[in-house]
Amino acid sequence: MFILPQKDSGTPTTSPGSVSTQGLHSNHGDGLEREGSGKPDQKPLKLYGVGDPTAMFSSDSPYLSSRGSIIKWFWDSAEEGYRTYHMDEYDEDENPSGIINLGTSENKLCFDLLSRRLSQSDMWRVEPSLLQYPDWRGHLFLREEVARFLSFYCRSPAPLKPENVVVLNGCASLFSALATVLCEVGEAFLIPAPYYGAITQHVYLYGNVRLVCVYLDSEVTGLETRPFQLTVEKLEMALEGANSEGVKVKGLILINPQNPLGDVYSPGELQEYLKFAKRHELHVMVDEVYMLSVFEESVGYHSVLSLERLPDPQRTHVMWATSKDFGMSGLRFGTLYTENQDVATAVSSLCRYHGLSGLVQYQMAQLLRDRDWINQVYLPENHARLKAAHTYVSEELRALGIPFVSRGAGFFIWVDLRKYLPAATFEEEMLLWRRFLDNKVLLSLGQAFECKEPGWFRLVFSDKTHRLRLGMQRVRRVLEGKSQVAEDAPSC
Ligand SMILES: Cc1ncc(COP(=O)(O)O)c(C=O)c1O
Repeated sequence: MFILPQKDSGTPTTSPGSVSTQGLHSNHGDGLEREGSGKPDQKPLKLYGVGDPTAMFSSDSPYLSSRGSIIKWFWDSAEEGYRTYHMDEYDEDENPSGIINLGTSENKLCFDLLSRRLSQSDMWRVEPSLLQYPDWRGHLFLREEVARFLSFYCRSPAPLKPENVVVLNGCASLFSALATVLCEVGEAFLIPAPYYGAITQHVYLYGNVRLVCVYLDSEVTGLETRPFQLTVEKLEMALEGANSEGVKVKGLILINPQNPLGDVYSPGELQEYLKFAKRHELHVMVDEVYMLSVFEESVGYHSVLSLERLPDPQRTHVMWATSKDFGMSGLRFGTLYTENQDVATAVSSLCRYHGLSGLVQYQMAQLLRDRDWINQVYLPENHARLKAAHTYVSEELRALGIPFVSRGAGFFIWVDLRKYLPAATFEEEMLLWRRFLDNKVLLSLGQAFECKEPGWFRLVFSDKTHRLRLGMQRVRRVLEGKSQVAEDAPSC
C-alpha cells in the first residue's frame, strides 16, 4: 500500500552525476551508524553518492592502530539514540515515563510463542560433537536442515544443497565476511538508498569496502509506478558515475523485502537487476532477512531462490537469518546460500570468528525442521499480529494526515514528515528527531538510511499494543506541538 507523499516544493531537483563525499553522522534510532553527506541540503541532489565513511574521522587513540582508532570512532559516533534509549528504557511498572523504542527493527510480538517452543525438551541435547570444534561452515545436520528450510520457504525450483550453505552468527557478520572476501580494500558495492544504514559499517570495519548509493526518489515520474522505485536505469547511472571517479564497484546489495521501505521486488524486477549485475560482472548479495515477515498476502513475495534460472549463479549470494522472521535478534543465527564454492569456502574460513555454539546449532536445526509449528502456529499468528499492529499505526497516521509508504512487509512504515520541517534540511530533520526523543519516543531518521530527502522517518510497529499506543500518543503530541511526557504514564 502506498499513501503517496505529497509533492513538496522544498524538494530539491536532481542533478545527474553530481557527487558528494559522505561523512559519518551519529546514530539516531536504530543502533545504526551511518554515512551521510556533510550538508546534503546545501548541495544539488544527486543520483548517486560514493561513500567515504571516515571522511569526518577524528580522535586517534594512542593505544590503537589507525584501523583500531577508526573502529572505535565508529562506535563512539554511532548509536546516540540507541544509547539514550538504553539508559532510560520504558517499562510499564518500573519506568512508565521512559523512552518507547519505535526505532529498532525488532519483532517483539511473539515472545510467548517462541519461549514456549524453545523451552520444549526436544530443543536441548548435549553430546560430545556439539561441545567440540565444529565444521566451521556449520554442522552438516544443520546445513541439511537449512537447505530443506530454504528450499521450502523460498520455493526453489529444485532442492537446495547443503554444500552451498554456510551458517554463522547473523547477517551483519555475513555482510562483513562477504565484503572481505569479494573486494579489495577501497572497492565498493552499489546499494539502493534509502537502505539499512548499518551495512556501511558491516562492509567497512574489516573489509574497508565502501558503498555507492543509488539514490531513489519519493516522486513517481516516467516509467516508475511507485515511490522510491529502483530501476535499472538508476543502477546504470550510479555504476557509470562511480566508475568515472575511479571507484571499482564489485557488487550490488539488494534487500528484499526492503528496509526501510518495506518494498518487495517482483520476479521481473529481480531478473532485471540480476541481469544488470551479470552484464557488469557484479556480485549480487540478496538480503532476504524479512522474507517470512510479509504479512499482507496480496503482496506475493518471491525469493531470488525461487527464480527458474539465476542469470549468474556464481555471483549470486543469498542471506537469511532468524533475527527478524523469528524475532530472535539476540540469538545470532544467519545463513549464506551460494553456489560459488570459492565464496562459500572463504566465508567458512572466517566463520572461525563468527561461528555458532554447537548447542545453538542443534536448537536451530530442531526449530527449522518443525514445519507443523512454523506453518500452523508461528507464521499465521506472527502475521496476524504484525498486520494488526500495522493497521493500528497506519490508521493513526492517516488520522494525522501523514503520508507514508508501506507494502505489508517488514516491521516498519516509512513516514513522510517533510511538512513538519520548517525548512527542507537535515538539520531540521535532526531537530524533529530530537523533539521526539525529548518526548520519550525513539524513531529513526531518514539520514540514517542515506535518504536524500530530509523529513522521512522510519517507524517500527512490531511491538506490543500498550507500548505502541503510548509511542503513537507521544508522536502525535510532538507533531501537534504539545510536548508533555509525565501525563502519559497513567494512560498506558
Ligand atoms: C536488512 C537487514 N539486514 C541485516 C540486518 C542484521 O541482521 P542480523 O541481526 O541477523 O545480523 C538487519 C537488522 O536490522 C536488517 O534490517
